[in-house]
Amino acid sequence: MPHTVRIKNTGLRGVTVADTKISFIDGDRGILIYRGFRIEDLAAHATFMEVAYLLLKGALPDNRELATFSDNVKRARGLPRHVEKSLKCCPQNAKPMDVLQASIPMLAMADPDFSSEDKDAHIRMATRLIARLPVVIAAWDRIRKGQDIIHPDDNLSHAENFLYMLHGSSPEQTMARALDVCLVLHADHTFNASTFASRQVASTRAHMYSAIAAAIGALSGSLHGGANTEVIKMLLELKNERNINRWVKSRLDKGERIMGMGHAVYKTTDPRATFLKKMAKELSELTGNQDLYNVSLRVEEAALQEFEKRGKSTIKPNVDFYSAPVYYMMGIPPDLMTAIFAMSRVAGWCAHVIEEKFGEAQGKPALYRPQADYVGEYCGLMGCTYKPRRKGN
Ligand code: ACO
Repeated sequence: MPHTVRIKNTGLRGVTVADTKISFIDGDRGILIYRGFRIEDLAAHATFMEVAYLLLKGALPDNRELATFSDNVKRARGLPRHVEKSLKCCPQNAKPMDVLQASIPMLAMADPDFSSEDKDAHIRMATRLIARLPVVIAAWDRIRKGQDIIHPDDNLSHAENFLYMLHGSSPEQTMARALDVCLVLHADHTFNASTFASRQVASTRAHMYSAIAAAIGALSGSLHGGANTEVIKMLLELKNERNINRWVKSRLDKGERIMGMGHAVYKTTDPRATFLKKMAKELSELTGNQDLYNVSLRVEEAALQEFEKRGKSTIKPNVDFYSAPVYYMMGIPPDLMTAIFAMSRVAGWCAHVIEEKFGEAQGKPALYRPQADYVGEYCGLMGCTYKPRRKGN
């Protein structure tokens, strides 16, 4: 076995770095599985609370286990006072993902378990994170708009409560169920960039909150979770565009990307996008947003045609392409959409942190530590014969 394997500038595509029992993707066939269950079945029949439990504990809960887990999440919803205070100190124009990331160490400081290395303590921390991220997100949106924070209502489900805290009124059941399905669809996705970031931090034995803060930072980027915000901006901009084909072609000619399209693993349609497309159609009819839905169809069609012509027919809509109009139709502001993604993916991140820390899939955990080839200046120390290159030499 060679000591060094060179896989530079590949973004680690196709490189297997660990075993996992949490989720599986077949990118050629468009299959996504959480702990043995197809995403289509979970989206149709399970709630986000069941899926969060499944990811964390490895099996779907029975009725009693689900009731206990849901109650634990509800009970953990209240924000510690110093977190609420610190949110009120953030500048009004602060980005929701920055505020969310900044809130994580604040939440850690109030968590009695945060320095524990015990697995049950990690499940309790995960429960609190799943409970509190939506509260932070809704609170920040209201604070920045100069509105009073709405505190959680224990009579409401996870999705209902979030929409209630955001908008100030209980949502229609269709909207609440639609959000719950979105949370199911986004909850895990193997070793994506943010999950890998969380596992990498966890591999140092840093606490769970550090790993989750790192994951939120990674998710915020526009090539990852941040794409949904870019998609909705694009669709709203194109609402009055007559020639979408020309717009798409000119963008690709300039070497720019169509956001919400393409995936590092799927080389066919992302199964989550199929589900979200149907949901976007239903919600557009319910909310009178057919224009927006039609624009997304036209962009998809134009982009697929252009990709085909350019020999890139494997680029298809990803999860962000149709989740963006879906969130918009729920009244979620564009720059809050990536935070909604985080409020679901936190379940997956926590499951991965637990798997990484406790070596649940591959035995003894190891610190991630890749290498790099040094191509900078040399200093002449320790027998090094290289001379520093100086201007004019
Ligand atoms: N629009 C235009 N061209 C694209 C797109 C796109 N959306 N996606 C890939 N390509 C092109 C690239 O320009 C590149 O072309 P080249 O070989 O001529 O230089 C080629 O396809 C390969 O692109 P890579 O980025 O190297 O490959 P990969 O398939 O790994 O990319 C990625 C995945 C980064 C997600 C890419 O498809 C992309 O940037 N998409 C747009 C952003 C986006 O929607 N991100 C969300 C992804 S899902 C998620 O993270 C939740």
